[in-house]
Amino acid sequence: MAIDTGTPPVALPRATDRGETLTVRDDRTGKTYVIPIHDGAIRATELNKIRTAADDPGLLTYDPGFMATAAVKSAVTYIDGDAGILRYRGYPIEELAEKCGFLEVSHLLLEGELPTDQELAAWQDDITHHTFIHENIKKFIDGFRHDAHPMGVLMSTVAALSTFYPEAKRISDVAPRHKQIVRLIAKMPTIAGFAYRHAVGLPYVYPDNDLSYTGNFLNMMWKTTELKYDPDPILERALEVLFILHADHEQNCSTSTVRVVGSARSDPYSAVAAGVGALYGPLHGGANEQVLRMLEEIGSVDRIPEHIERVKSGELRLMGFGHRVYKSYDPRARIIKKVADDVFEVTGRNPLLDIALELEKIALEDDYFVSHKLYPNVDFYSGLIYQAMGFPVEMFPVLFAIGRTPGWLAQWQEGLLDPDQKIARPRQLYIGHAERHLDDV
Ligand code: CMC
Repeated sequence: MAIDTGTPPVALPRATDRGETLTVRDDRTGKTYVIPIHDGAIRATELNKIRTAADDPGLLTYDPGFMATAAVKSAVTYIDGDAGILRYRGYPIEELAEKCGFLEVSHLLLEGELPTDQELAAWQDDITHHTFIHENIKKFIDGFRHDAHPMGVLMSTVAALSTFYPEAKRISDVAPRHKQIVRLIAKMPTIAGFAYRHAVGLPYVYPDNDLSYTGNFLNMMWKTTELKYDPDPILERALEVLFILHADHEQNCSTSTVRVVGSARSDPYSAVAAGVGALYGPLHGGANEQVLRMLEEIGSVDRIPEHIERVKSGELRLMGFGHRVYKSYDPRARIIKKVADDVFEVTGRNPLLDIALELEKIALEDDYFVSHKLYPNVDFYSGLIYQAMGFPVEMFPVLFAIGRTPGWLAQWQEGLLDPDQKIARPRQLYIGHAERHLDDV
């Protein structure tokens, strides 16, 4: 399929071939193989050339959870898990969180560069003018039960959007591709707000295009009888920072899911809906919800040691702790702690904060957590902020999904434009029965 890469194309890093190689000796055959190393990796297909006989299917690598397998090359986000570094397109997350807006960061992720003032104005205008959803989507949301989890509502409604925009299938053409990206970023807060209002039985609030992206989201969540909703600027900015911190995190579970679905050339609504499904899981974006439930269950500081013992015995996991990539403090958690102070100035201190702070203190001194390199991750404090701002726990992963949408789309598009992309199709090690027959029984 010919793909229109448009302008500007997403620049992929060039393989730096320094002539490095890996020499492997197959002890089964005594043969030696010299495998090129590019960018610190070998191609798994090189290992597949290692065979004991002509009919041998070749050596496979076994890597559940992709612990040591790079499935893509990406120029979007860089993480150094040992050093606690996170950068979007080269910019440290600390600088972006301090100086940029969420839509600027979205532009950076998608286009590779921060927007000029003119580009930002056009981008904001474009997003703002796609915040409304088709009236039938409202009816669709009406069909959910009153206690439907908003993540389920979000996932299904995003998938349903593909039926409203059939041109979304034209993923190879720049203009329709860009339009769906704009629509998705613009409509996520609207769907999220409607999902919440449906759950609490309040009338839906239509987008207010005079407000900022986050200000408008707060409007769609909380507006009641006032003629115009006036968001608190501190809370508006806090949410903006939280969205920035969640905007991308390279090849995490949901982003990989979006890329896998995208590799089949599905439309972006279907791919992002699948990403929302992955994010819903308690080990991923659902963790912030679990953190709050855990803190509520612990209930008081004096019950922390008992909880820590249960974690260490393997009975429980300490939610909001640990990360596949970060083996030191998650840099996002550090920024979030600062945001928490700002928010609590406005909302009053969340009483669960004392439990969280003490839990962190005890865990960071405990041998089990130190030796396992378990530190607070982004989800440990975000839930406390969301709760203080009035969001019910069920909305926490939804907030994560709004923030992550530009990252999903940047990665989806990068995959699409990558000449190396192939439909994702992992191999397996078959461990079932050899051939057998019904007559053998
Ligand atoms: N509490 C207690 N022990 C833990 C925890 C935890 N939160 N996380 C990992 N461990 C232990 C685990 O038991 C194992 O111990 P051992 O080697 O003795 O068997 C070791 O650490 C390695 O764990 P793993 O499950 O192999 O590590 P992983 O890289 O596969 O899992 C993780 C990463 C995030 C799923 C995991 O740390 C976890 O379940 N954390 C709690 C859930 C959570 O907070 N998730 C949010 C992640 S950040 C936001 C996002 O990107 O989604």
